[in-house]
Amino acid sequence: MGAVKCIGILTSGGDAPGMNAAIRAVTRTAIYNDLRVKGIYRGYKGLITDEIVEFKSQNVSNIIQLGGTILKTARCNEFTTPEGRKIAYETMQRHGIDALVVIGGDGSLTGARIFAQEYNIPCIGLPGTIDNDLYGTDTTIGYDTALNTILDAVDKIRDTATSHDRLFFVEVMGRDAGFLALNGAIASGAEAAIIPEFSTEVDQLEEFIKNGFRKSKNSSIVLVAESELTGGAMHYAERVKNEYPQYDVRVTILGHLQRGGSPTAHDRILASRLGAAAIDAIMEDQRNVMIGIENDEVVYVPFSKAIKNDKPIKRELVNVLRALSI
Ligand code: F6P
Repeated sequence: MGAVKCIGILTSGGDAPGMNAAIRAVTRTAIYNDLRVKGIYRGYKGLITDEIVEFKSQNVSNIIQLGGTILKTARCNEFTTPEGRKIAYETMQRHGIDALVVIGGDGSLTGARIFAQEYNIPCIGLPGTIDNDLYGTDTTIGYDTALNTILDAVDKIRDTATSHDRLFFVEVMGRDAGFLALNGAIASGAEAAIIPEFSTEVDQLEEFIKNGFRKSKNSSIVLVAESELTGGAMHYAERVKNEYPQYDVRVTILGHLQRGGSPTAHDRILASRLGAAAIDAIMEDQRNVMIGIENDEVVYVPFSKAIKNDKPIKRELVNVLRALSI
């Protein structure tokens, strides 16, 4: 093992259920291996404003079940500048932090990558985002919980959609990825999903109407992934009003509801494994990698691969949804 004695941990970007389980796992595995841990508050911002607290095992007691992040989070513009990162580095030095564990999504890991290269600091990333859009891991921390939140909502919407014979567009998060919409649709029994990955390929609304709406059903639910590429749920509701005025259409935007709640067993186990593996990676002198789990095995994914490397969505899932929605 290298000279690492003290690890800084932070959560950054959008919060995701399971981040606390990851904080707990990193902290306890580090202490178990005689490393010190410092909790950095409000993501990279806390490195600039010096909001850092030494973490003992008790600091992470009773948090595995909590949504959000006890370390708080932020999207920090200052850290995107060389001046901001210099202040961050000086803060780390003052606190004796020699390695960083960053829990967050694409933007947060991009920050870690640049920082690590500039200052030669071992940085380990953990995929924490409900969007599931990081390459090199089967799922990201928070994705499963968000999917289950979507199911609860769609189950309820279906009651009213059926009673009124209505067509509902339900907008879900995902930034530019359709994982929540597509798998949310399969799991909730929705009739279709409109996702950014296929937005240039076909007119997904036309396809949905053509493929069966109203052939065998009086009501329908379509999950729409938020994204400039899809245009969002309101866009499709407007189109239906204009192009198919015979349908009674409504919109529900689930929004930040999807980011909250107690993490599912899947997310707690995932976060615990990833958190423990982050410390193993540091002790093996790994640097600048994201830890993922693929086919139930822990993998180290270089930041360059994990970030901005479009994670493919399986076409098979689209076919499953189409067949099951007749
Ligand atoms: O990346 C997570 C996410 O929830 C996206 O799905 C969404 O587009 C974005 O964050 C919303 O960000 P904010 O909470 O800053 O509005």
